[in-house]
Amino acid sequence: MKIFKLKEELISYLESQNSNKTRSFVPTMGALHGGHLSLIETAKQNNDLIICSIFVNPTQFNNSTDLEKYPRTIKQDLHALSKIDCDIVYLPEVSDLYNKNEKLKFYDFNGLDKFMEGEGRQGHFDGVATVVEKLLRIVKPKKAYFGQKDLQQLQIIKHITIQLGLDVDIIGVPTKREESGLAMSSRNKRLSESDQEKATLIYKTLQFISKNKLNYTIKELKQICIGKFEYHPELDLEYLEIVSIENLHPIENYKEEGNNAACIAATISSVRLIDNIIF
Ligand code: PAF
Repeated sequence: MKIFKLKEELISYLESQNSNKTRSFVPTMGALHGGHLSLIETAKQNNDLIICSIFVNPTQFNNSTDLEKYPRTIKQDLHALSKIDCDIVYLPEVSDLYNKNEKLKFYDFNGLDKFMEGEGRQGHFDGVATVVEKLLRIVKPKKAYFGQKDLQQLQIIKHITIQLGLDVDIIGVPTKREESGLAMSSRNKRLSESDQEKATLIYKTLQFISKNKLNYTIKELKQICIGKFEYHPELDLEYLEIVSIENLHPIENYKEEGNNAACIAATISSVRLIDNIIF
């Protein structure tokens, strides 16, 4: 496994490689878990050249404590990547991706950022789009893989790559879950076992929504589910929305099967978790 810290070195190495192999890219912020590894496993199915980046991107954090507390486990990450035969890791410092006084770039997400994560985390998606655009322009992959757990991020990245005319397929990979149903996330590392157990209410609620689609209206389902969280005050519910996958706006009537998503953000012991289900 080759490791590069400088984009120039990565670019010249990639240029020297056999161009018959499709480049597949998995950008991450490290603290790798089964969810990340499943992105790489999916990418590997086609015998592509797999490039993974590990970079905790400061511009997407609107809370400096969250940035500081973001788990950094480089040694274990590199070990896990070499074990699953990742070909190349790009491990830049902030200065390799951002100029000293670089101004933040603002994107037009065509309303995809209007609700949910976009409401509570001002500037978050501009930061994500900025770093993803930079990384895609460096790596120039044919395919790039992102988890469906961050559904809004996934849809926004699909949108901007089309808008920017980048020649890349953005592929969403289903969420990997613990046996309990809890969505795998780097943030789970900050939760005690008991909090992880309590946090399973998030996925249980999402399943309840998708199973009861025919029994209740959207308004009723939302009321019932918000009520479930009121019985568990240790989980602070930030939002529970049922949206159309197409524009990520809350809906009053269901769309066709597979075009609805229920999305939740909740905080437990200062750890913010998000999850969704598509139905
Ligand atoms: O999902 C993530 O880990 C990050 O938002 C990403 C896409 C790597 C950009 O920093």
